[in-house]
Amino acid sequence: MPRQTLDPKARKLQAQELQARKFQSRKLRAKNLQKLHEQKSKKPEKPAPTKKQKGPEGDPRFRIIDTAMKRTDYSPDALIEVLHTVQETFGYLENEVLEYITRQLKLPLSRVYGVATFYHLFSLKPQGEHNCVVCLGTACYVKGGDKILTELEKFLEIKTGETTPDGKISLLTARCMGACGIAPAVSLDGKVAGKQTPESLLEAVKELIASGEAKKIKEKVEELSQTEQVYA
Ligand code: FES
Repeated sequence: MPRQTLDPKARKLQAQELQARKFQSRKLRAKNLQKLHEQKSKKPEKPAPTKKQKGPEGDPRFRIIDTAMKRTDYSPDALIEVLHTVQETFGYLENEVLEYITRQLKLPLSRVYGVATFYHLFSLKPQGEHNCVVCLGTACYVKGGDKILTELEKFLEIKTGETTPDGKISLLTARCMGACGIAPAVSLDGKVAGKQTPESLLEAVKELIASGEAKKIKEKVEELSQTEQVYA
C-alpha cells in the first residue's frame, strides 16, 4: 500500500502536538522528582504518644484475670465468666480492666460494656470518691481479713457494697486478689496493699479521705487565685 504523505499544514500540527506532549511529560517528570526529593528530605514523623494502657505488670490481680482467660482459651464466648472473675478480684468492673479484657479477647468494647451493664450483679463503679476492697479469699480470711472488714464497717458505719452517706468511700470485698503471699490484702483506690491489720487499714483509709480533702482544698485555692488574676 502506498504510504500516505501529510500535507505541510497537517505535518506542522502533528509536530506541535508532539512538542506539547514532550513538554507535558517533562513537566510531570520534574514534578515527580520534586515530590520524591521532598519526601526524602522530610524527617520521619514521630508516632503520637499513646496513652499508657493498663496491663498486668505489677498488679497481682491481673494474673487471676489472665488465668481465667487462658482457662477458656481466650474465647469471646467466655466473656461473662471472665467478667465474674474481674468482679470477684477487683470488687467491681473497673474501666481499664474492661479495656484490657477487650484487647485480650479481641472483642469490641461496646460488646464488653453491653454485657457488663446488662447484668445487675455486675457493678461498673463504686459510687464513692474512693474505694476500699477487702479480700475475703481463703488465705486472707484465715489471716484476719474478716476482722479487718468488721472494723472498717464499724468505722465507716456502712455494710459491704455500700458507700458512706457523704459519698467519700465505698466498701467492697473480693474473693482473691492474687496476692495471697502478703495476706491479708486490701486494695485502696486500685492499689493493692498486703499484711494489713485493722489498725493499719483504718489509718490508711483516714489518710486516703484526708488526701482527697487536701486535694480539693488545693484545687479550690488554685481556682480562686486564677480568678483573682483575671480580675487584677
Ligand atoms: S486470698 Fe486474698 S489475695 Fe488471695
